[in-house]
Amino acid sequence: MHDFTFKKEELYCEDVPVSRIVEACGTPAYIYSHSTILSHFKKIEAAFKPVNPLICFSMKANSSLAVCRLLAKAGSGFDIVSGGELYRALKVKVSPKKIVYASVGKTPEEIKEAIRAGILCFNVESIPELETIEAVARKVKKRARIALRLNPDVDAHTHRFITTGTKENKFGMGPEDVFQTFLHAGDYPHLDFVGIHLHIGSQILETGPYVQAIECALQVVERIKAAKIPRLTVEYLNIGGGFGIIYKDEEAQTADDFARAVIPLLASSGLKIILEPGRFIVGNAGIMVTRVLYVKKAATKTFVIVDAGMNDLIRPALYGAYHEILPLKQRSASSTAMDAVMVADIVGPVCESGDFLAKDRRLPRVEAGEYLAVMGAGAYGFVMASNYNSRLKPCEVMVFKGRYAVVRKRERYQELIKNEVIPSKLQ
Ligand SMILES: Cc1ncc(COP(=O)(O)O)c(C=O)c1O
Repeated sequence: MHDFTFKKEELYCEDVPVSRIVEACGTPAYIYSHSTILSHFKKIEAAFKPVNPLICFSMKANSSLAVCRLLAKAGSGFDIVSGGELYRALKVKVSPKKIVYASVGKTPEEIKEAIRAGILCFNVESIPELETIEAVARKVKKRARIALRLNPDVDAHTHRFITTGTKENKFGMGPEDVFQTFLHAGDYPHLDFVGIHLHIGSQILETGPYVQAIECALQVVERIKAAKIPRLTVEYLNIGGGFGIIYKDEEAQTADDFARAVIPLLASSGLKIILEPGRFIVGNAGIMVTRVLYVKKAATKTFVIVDAGMNDLIRPALYGAYHEILPLKQRSASSTAMDAVMVADIVGPVCESGDFLAKDRRLPRVEAGEYLAVMGAGAYGFVMASNYNSRLKPCEVMVFKGRYAVVRKRERYQELIKNEVIPSKLQ
């Protein structure tokens, strides 16, 4: 569910016509609905209430300060993967005790900043990383909390680029390695081993893989408990994110479905539970609006050329992802006759044949100057935007109780080159 709806044939975000926003702010523009983000967060909170989890929004899905601040105010913590995300989390004033830090490639500098900030724990992905965290903690004379990321070798049946819990993936460590590392916790005098972390993939549409992964984690926890390792208590089980959403016709599970499947396991474990949802909270809470520049009729195809490219929204090019694309003004019933419909590739201005938003898409006949809403663009949308072709990054807007605010200004040419230098010899 989301708050982008047609009222009198016009697309609204909450109570604001989307056309009003883009006429004022220009395109391409990302538009987020405050109420949708909040309601998705609360849905997860309510569904998992029996185990009272710490929900750490996965900032990689959408790291807009406004989005993160709204979630921090709602009680969310953050799952981060870089020093930049730590910086953002601290900017939105979340308690460091609600920050968990994953990533296979944390640098010593990033680790130092996170230890100094006092984050809840590092989700550690390898022994060399563990050794680095120990060395950094020793150097800064502090202790660091550790959860080991378990790779349970479970196929989450999602796109191969976003499957993370099988043996072939670079993430985490196998069950035996995790157990053995816990047994040797004493080798790391500055680290407290407090938990196990899982994240088996993204856009997961079934509950089964979660159950399998959690069962695997709980077996490891049982072995650790039985080993009675001195001064070591497993406190946390972090089950990651990955809850899938509807882009087209997916049979996505609700938060209640996911919760119902795993709560019996989680509750009986007696562990503190952490969740790291990203897409579920923001995916359908954002759209990207683009303007039709040209309609080009080529030999075999029609191309609708729009002002947003793969640099603005890379998901179609990267994953072949489907996004619903709708004109901001709906056509009246009579104008939906056959001649008012077209089949076209919706493409951007970037110089790549992979630069498309949709292929062979049936849509109402559109003309230059019209606006199109690319739905479900709130997760892994703006965060993956780049300056390829020296294109300026779009603006981001948040709608909130009948008003809207630009939460990130459109980039300007000066900003595009602000860190560049022409060496004096070339002047
Ligand atoms: C460690 C970790 N946690 C959580 C997430 C969030 O996943 P999703 O947006 O599918 O909920 C990701 C995404 O890749 C991740 O890598």
